[in-house]
Amino acid sequence: MVTEKLNSTAQKWCCVFLYLLVFGDGGSQVKFLPGFQGPLPFELETGYIGVGESEDVQLFYYFTKSESQPESDPIILWLTGGPGCSALSGLLFEIGPFTLEKEKYNGSLPRIVLNPYSWSKWLNDHPEFISNPFYVAGDSYSGILVPIISQFISDGNEMGIHPQINLQGYMLGNPLTFPEENDYKIQFAHGMALISDELYEVHCNGKYQSVDPSNAKCLQDINTFNELINGLDGAQILDWTCGFAVSMSDDIASQRRRSLHQQLDHHPLSALKCHIDWYRLSYYWADNESVRDALHIKKGSIGSWIRCNLKLQYKTTTWNSIPYHANLSAKGYRSLIYSGDHDMMVPFLSTQAWIRSLNYSIIDEWRQWTVEGQVAG
Ligand SMILES: *[C@@H]1O[C@H](CO)[C@@H](O)[C@H](O)[C@H]1NC(C)=O
Ligand SMILES: *[C@@H]1O[C@H](CO)[C@@H](O)[C@H](O)[C@H]1NC(C)=O
Ligand SMILES: *[C@@H]1O[C@H](CO)[C@@H](O)[C@H](O)[C@H]1NC(C)=O
Ligand SMILES: *[C@@H]1O[C@H](CO)[C@@H](O)[C@H](O)[C@H]1NC(C)=O
Repeated sequence: MVTEKLNSTAQKWCCVFLYLLVFGDGGSQVKFLPGFQGPLPFELETGYIGVGESEDVQLFYYFTKSESQPESDPIILWLTGGPGCSALSGLLFEIGPFTLEKEKYNGSLPRIVLNPYSWSKWLNDHPEFISNPFYVAGDSYSGILVPIISQFISDGNEMGIHPQINLQGYMLGNPLTFPEENDYKIQFAHGMALISDELYEVHCNGKYQSVDPSNAKCLQDINTFNELINGLDGAQILDWTCGFAVSMSDDIASQRRRSLHQQLDHHPLSALKCHIDWYRLSYYWADNESVRDALHIKKGSIGSWIRCNLKLQYKTTTWNSIPYHANLSAKGYRSLIYSGDHDMMVPFLSTQAWIRSLNYSIIDEWRQWTVEGQVAG
């Protein structure tokens, strides 16, 4: 689901992005952030990039420098999933150098803390990276965008467009990739004992995408399936939803309109058990005028911040990024595809299936992965 407009501007966006990095104009430095104690310990820059012929659409970007050797460390262009989710959401809840303190909202501006798992640190053990290799990265819905944008950059390089981008590869987490993903969702639910053998096996023959409308039994099974998973958090089936299917296109804005009193009372015993409460903090933070000033957001350019804007207008041109993966790999680009094993929306089963369909030879067997000496996967 990609807009043609976005497609045609992706190359430009990347180039402008690189231009900003190389020539360093356009953006504004952010030294302090409301909610964070003291000056920021890393360099943060924000700015706008005009899109389209008339540049009437302005994309806001955040640029943080690597915390080890920014002159030589790889550059990652991170695209937030969605579709339509704000870059701030990626920054706060995915891989950015800072995040929101997981504490209950008490009426004061939510606090910002450093993220120990930030990807601005992650690569300091790899001296083989020279002269700013460039990677495109993202997760979830970005599984459609990242391979396409990588290919645009690659094509641009081949056509001799300047500046040449030192694209080395791309990274994706639980990436949406092809329409049959839904079939694996049901396989996943079956493996997780959320649905019975009977429901899994009988009427749909393992195919739940584009079901024949005359197959009433299968349609009935799909209804039953939807009832059985209703209320689970699709992105982390073990997570507390606290009554909200958080990951399923949350629009917390409606929640936010509840009175402050109600919100504070909402989970009296909660020590931020609910993911939704953490997300909600971002609304309070992002809507605060002093935060907007600190981030150099043009006054009056947007109304209330929306974490994921479901009302963007675009035309779907593809739901399948497998051919892009195949092309990029054939050209020798590296890719890192990782997967959380409790995500039912983009289950690891479908990720393994499309990777398998590319027919690569396996050069390393499955092995244990440990965290602090304990087997984690
Ligand atoms: C915005 O945050 C500042 C702290 O930086 C705080 O003093 C102010 O009250 C907040 N504004 C609103 C409307 O909450
Ligand atoms: C909310 O909690 C923060 C952090 O503990 C504290 O600094 C602040 O004063 C509290 N605000 C209110 C209104 O109680
Ligand atoms: C993959 O590469 C081939 C050969 O260059 C090209 O014809 C095809 O359009 C590419 N596929 C995609 C999805 O871009
Ligand atoms: C992978 O192998 C299968 C079976 O041999 C074949 O049908 C398919 O086209 C191959 N896919 C690619 C991307 O080469």
